[in-house]
Amino acid sequence: MTSEQHALGPYTFAVLTLSDKGSRGEREDTSGPYLVEKLQQEGHILKSYAVIPDRITVIVEALIDLVDNQGITLIVTTGGTGVAPTDVTPEAMLQVIDKEVPGMAEAMRAASLGKTLNAVLSRGKVGIRGQSLIINLPGSLKAARENLEVIIAVLPHALEKICGGTADCAV
Ligand code: MTE
Repeated sequence: MTSEQHALGPYTFAVLTLSDKGSRGEREDTSGPYLVEKLQQEGHILKSYAVIPDRITVIVEALIDLVDNQGITLIVTTGGTGVAPTDVTPEAMLQVIDKEVPGMAEAMRAASLGKTLNAVLSRGKVGIRGQSLIINLPGSLKAARENLEVIIAVLPHALEKICGGTADCAV
């Protein structure tokens, strides 16, 4: 029997787009709505979607709120993973997560190298806070799509394990 057949769910999820321009309404967010639609197609339940600025304190506050106050099981961020001065998503993650899941982040980078050498510029992390999984994806629609497709099939099993193998955080 495969891990997918054991997986419980569906799980609640949030999408957080990290973009200074997007948060000021100066750039249309295409990655966030794509991720919302894709994860809904997978059967997960959307609880929150927001576009917030690339500020460590704002990102930390938003992630902690989604996990600790709203109890959302899966949080996917897009943007701010690169090497520009404003890219601080990984630094915010370090203040939020209890554990890293490096294999998921490494798998996304490794698979992305087959698409573009620029994949090495993403410093995105995947980590766990409490019983929630937080996944950083790069910001462009193309990059977000290509990275998510690498790990999407493992999500039900990952979330079941993070929840302790019980129905506790399934909807
Ligand atoms: N990964 C994939 N699969 N496809 C892409 O087009 N773009 C890269 C990289 N990862 C890309 C990708 C680029 S150009 C950058 S700068 C980094 O992700 C970081 O992106 P971010 O700063 O928008 O998070």
